[in-house]
Amino acid sequence: MRLIEERAVARKTPEILVVGGGKGGVGKTCFAVNLAVDVAHKGWRVILVDADLGCSNIETVLGTRAERRLDDFFYQKGGKQLASILCDTQYENLRLIPGTTGLLDVANPKYQQKTALIRELRSLDSDLIVVDLDAGAHLNTLDFFLMTDTNGVLVINPEKTSIDNAFKFLRAALFRKIERFYRSTEVALLLQRNESLRDFLDCIAKSELLEEETQKQVTTEIVALARSVRPRIVVNRARNQYEAQIAANILSKYARQHLLVEPENLGFLYYDKCVPEAVNSGTPFVVSFPKLKIAGCVSDIANRLGYF
Ligand SMILES: Nc1ncnc2c1ncn2[C@@H]1O[C@H](COP(=O)(O)OP(=O)(O)O)[C@@H](O)[C@H]1O
Ligand SMILES: [Mg+2]
Repeated sequence: MRLIEERAVARKTPEILVVGGGKGGVGKTCFAVNLAVDVAHKGWRVILVDADLGCSNIETVLGTRAERRLDDFFYQKGGKQLASILCDTQYENLRLIPGTTGLLDVANPKYQQKTALIRELRSLDSDLIVVDLDAGAHLNTLDFFLMTDTNGVLVINPEKTSIDNAFKFLRAALFRKIERFYRSTEVALLLQRNESLRDFLDCIAKSELLEEETQKQVTTEIVALARSVRPRIVVNRARNQYEAQIAANILSKYARQHLLVEPENLGFLYYDKCVPEAVNSGTPFVVSFPKLKIAGCVSDIANRLGYF
C-alpha cells in the first residue's frame, strides 16, 4: 500500500490506457472492465471511461447503472467539467465515466468536444484511466486511440479477420497521426493513395512536387512518427499461449514490414465459457471467477503494466 501512495504522489497526471483493436466482439470491453476492476482491487485509483460512442456497454459488463452520461459533458454550457459526470461504482477505488446514449449527435461529437474530453481526461485525479473504444476506424476512435500518442492496446483474437482488422486499424491510426502532423500539405494528399507506409515513402522519394531536401526531411519525420507508435497487443480468446503468441507475432510482423511500427506483446487471455456467463450476470469474471486461469491472465497483464 505504501508503494501505491508514493507513486500516486510522484505522478501528477494519470496514466491513460486506451483499449482498441478495430474489430467488434473481440473482447475489448471485457478486457478493459476486468483489468480496471483488478487494478482497483490492488489499491490503485482507477477510472473506466466508456468511449464507445456508438454502442456503449461497460455498464452491462460491470453491472452498474449510472445516472449521468457522457452526453451531459458534451452539452454542458461554458466550461466543461468531466469530473461532474464521474460516477462511483460498487467497487472500491473504481469510478466510471459512462457512455453516451448513442444517439446520432453524441455518437459523432464535434472536434472541439472531442479535444475537450481528451484534455479533461488528463486532468482527472486518478492513478489510471482505462478508456474503452468503439470498433471500426472512425476518426473519433482513431483520435481517442492516439490520445496517449504512442502506446494504446490492440485487443485481437487468434483469427485472420481480427488480425487483419487490427492491422488496418493501426494503419489508419498511423496515417491519421501523420496527417495531423502535416495538416493539409501535399504529404497528406499522397498519404490517401497508399496502402502501406513503405509505398508512401517510395511515393515521397519519387514525388515531383517536393524538393530533394524536403523529401529527405519528410522521410525522416515520417519514420520518426512511425517509430514513436508502440501499440501493445493483447490476444483474447486464445486456446493456449502458443496460439496467442503466433497471432501476436503475425500482427507484429505486418506492422513492422508495412508500417515500420514495432508493437509490444502484452499478454493473452484464454477462451473461457464463463466469460459470457459473467457478462450476463453483470459481475466481471475477475470477481465472479477469481480462480479461473483467465483471471490470472488479467492479473499478469496488470503486473506487466506495473500495477501490482
Ligand atoms: N476470453 C473470452 N472467452 C469467451 N468469451 C469471451 C471472451 N472475451 C469476450 N467474450 C465474449 O465476447 C463478447 C464480446 O466481448 P466484448 O468485450 O463486448 O467485445 P468488444 O468490446 O470488443 O466488442 C462478450 O459479451 C463475451 O461474452
Ligand atoms: Mg466494446
